[in-house]
Amino acid sequence: MAYETILVETRGKVGAITLNRPKALNALNAQLMTELNQALDAFDSDATIGCILITGSDRAFAAGADIKEMEEKTYPATYLEDFFVTGDRIAARRKPMVAAVAGFALGGGCELAMMCDIIIAADTAKFGQPEIKLGVMPGIGGTQRLTRAVGKAKAMDLCLTGRMMGAEEAERSGLVARVVPADKLLEEAFAAAEAIASMSLPILMMTKESVNRAFETSLSEGVRFERRVFHAMFATADQKEGMSAFVAKRPPDFKNA
Ligand code: CAA
Repeated sequence: MAYETILVETRGKVGAITLNRPKALNALNAQLMTELNQALDAFDSDATIGCILITGSDRAFAAGADIKEMEEKTYPATYLEDFFVTGDRIAARRKPMVAAVAGFALGGGCELAMMCDIIIAADTAKFGQPEIKLGVMPGIGGTQRLTRAVGKAKAMDLCLTGRMMGAEEAERSGLVARVVPADKLLEEAFAAAEAIASMSLPILMMTKESVNRAFETSLSEGVRFERRVFHAMFATADQKEGMSAFVAKRPPDFKNA
């Protein structure tokens, strides 16, 4: 499919999406959100893809929702179109997703990164929810996912002051999984995505679902959910393959079965 706001490539079992509106610092307009979901649909339905990587440019992962597109919107219009419900579709993807973030990840850009399962940040990355300065607040999950990621104190600080935090603070706060030198970002992010994609896809998806369950339920229910899914894994050929490969001291050959 021909896209205008994103670039799409496949590297082995990794499907990569590069946000590509350089003149607007990859601001998330309606077209970009639609194309992003179309590309995610395509990777979701491609059985050879085991992990999805989302990245931007050196200067910006994404500087937020497109302010110029939003400026004149009215309440009835935002309500009727359920403005940014498209974000829910991104967040609900079942395959693992890695965000490789350099430069600005602000507003909707930070929210998009948080919809991914792992954020790998360049040391140049700057995260923030500056919507308050525009007279609004985060609207694609920022008040919820940021709070779950970094806790109330830091989430309130970022959402109420609109300040940015650098990569090191983001890692210290638990938002970011790893910080790497900017010139190594894509190498490291692809290596992580390839390592993930080499695992059994159904087991990856069940693991993702189980970790995410931690945000939706009590500890005892979450642990019970985990145990039941763990039991179900013994019905897969990949569990037999993974364990017999370990015992035979050879690499596993997962069949996604
Ligand atoms: N929407 C639309 N255009 C944007 C944009 C955005 N979020 N962010 C940057 N741009 C555009 C600028 O308007 C500018 O375009 P022009 O050249 O046509 O003027 C271009 O990108 C380059 O930006 P700057 O000249 O401002 O670059 P800078 O280096 O001086 O500043 C920046 C960079 C600090 C990121 C600054 O651009 C900025 O503050 N951007 C807005 C960040 C923001 O408020 N994000 C939240 C958006 S609201 C949101 O996301 C709501 C939600 O949760 C759903």
